[in-house]
Amino acid sequence: MTILKLEPSSEPFTYEQWEELAKTKLTKGAFDYVQSGSGAEETLIKNREVFSQWDLLPYVLTNVEERDLSTNLLNRKIAAPFLLAPVGFQTVVHPDGERASASSASKLNIPYITSTVSSVALEEVSKIMQDTPHYFQLYWPNDDDVATSLVKRAESVGYDAIVVTVDTPLLGWREKDLHNGYFPMETGAGMANFVSDPVFQAKYNSDDLLEDSELIPVIRNILLKQNLTWEKLAWLREQTSLPILLKGILRADDAAKAVQFGIDAIIVSNHGGRQLDGVRSSLSALPAIVEEVNGEIPVLVDGGIRRGSDIIKAIALGADAVLLGRPYVYGLANGEAGVTDVLKNLLSDLDTSLAIVGIPTIQMIDQSIIEEKR
Ligand code: FNR
Repeated sequence: MTILKLEPSSEPFTYEQWEELAKTKLTKGAFDYVQSGSGAEETLIKNREVFSQWDLLPYVLTNVEERDLSTNLLNRKIAAPFLLAPVGFQTVVHPDGERASASSASKLNIPYITSTVSSVALEEVSKIMQDTPHYFQLYWPNDDDVATSLVKRAESVGYDAIVVTVDTPLLGWREKDLHNGYFPMETGAGMANFVSDPVFQAKYNSDDLLEDSELIPVIRNILLKQNLTWEKLAWLREQTSLPILLKGILRADDAAKAVQFGIDAIIVSNHGGRQLDGVRSSLSALPAIVEEVNGEIPVLVDGGIRRGSDIIKAIALGADAVLLGRPYVYGLANGEAGVTDVLKNLLSDLDTSLAIVGIPTIQMIDQSIIEEKR
């Protein structure tokens, strides 16, 4: 395990300090885009508050000298039970964007999920990830030919899974972005997977005449599909042999449907409080979904994971792994080195927390160590 440096540092260390740093480095539009939630941000706030409604109950005297943070997910061993969530448009945070995040993740054997609206084409991200698990997140475009093309490209360059985001028939009502008049694609970010797509180019830019700025409305127009249904997922199931995950489930009956439709894992998520304000926090949605799924497929969760003890709580409540969004994106304000600082710190924090909760391996965490606050 990494030994933490003990000399005082002026660099950010905590999540809150990284957020502060990002605020000073990014434009107001970009910072608000990353930080904010939808509506009055009640869900964004709940995603954090819910963690303090649960108490951990450590075991003592259990011999925690030999610890193991690794875990298995979809038949692959990963360094720790967390993945980097799909976050689009990362060049609005740092010019290296997704290259830096993926490079850091790959060196630490932490899985990375490439967004449909990545600023770096999915093939390049895959090369950076090498053998470390990487998934492709699909915002199902309102054009099945383009959707199929993206999925086939991901499959052919070695992605390990497709993550279909199902909570986004439209972008949420994000008041800060609307007020700022900010749409990240207008900086040139987030278009790489479309401009590099042969089907997209053939259908929408056949003479290759359009400038990037002219492509923005075209991409925006087909980015999201409002008439996506479960039947469509059954169709996708036939198009690819890769495992399919659904991201954005909050109801136990939807989780049951996912199992019925042959989905390979689900991600309990409210999109970091960015889609519908007022929906429940993802951690509070987790237990009923875990109960419903009953071990048939892995259940992941994201939203508000900031520290090692948060990860332990999510796993004690039945998650197989968690996703991190904003924490690594704030680190990215300092490029790859910043992402690596954030991730290494979290690994050390998780290792420390595991020892003190008295359970030496991730596999051994169970619900006996967690209780609802009285
Ligand atoms: C996101 N998220 C997201 N999700 C997705 O499926 N596709 C995407 O392109 C994006 N883009 C994106 C951009 C930014 C700036 C943020 C903050 C989030 C949601 C993301 O995958 C994840 O669900 C949340 O970020 C998890 O919550 P925390 O960790 O940020 O609290």
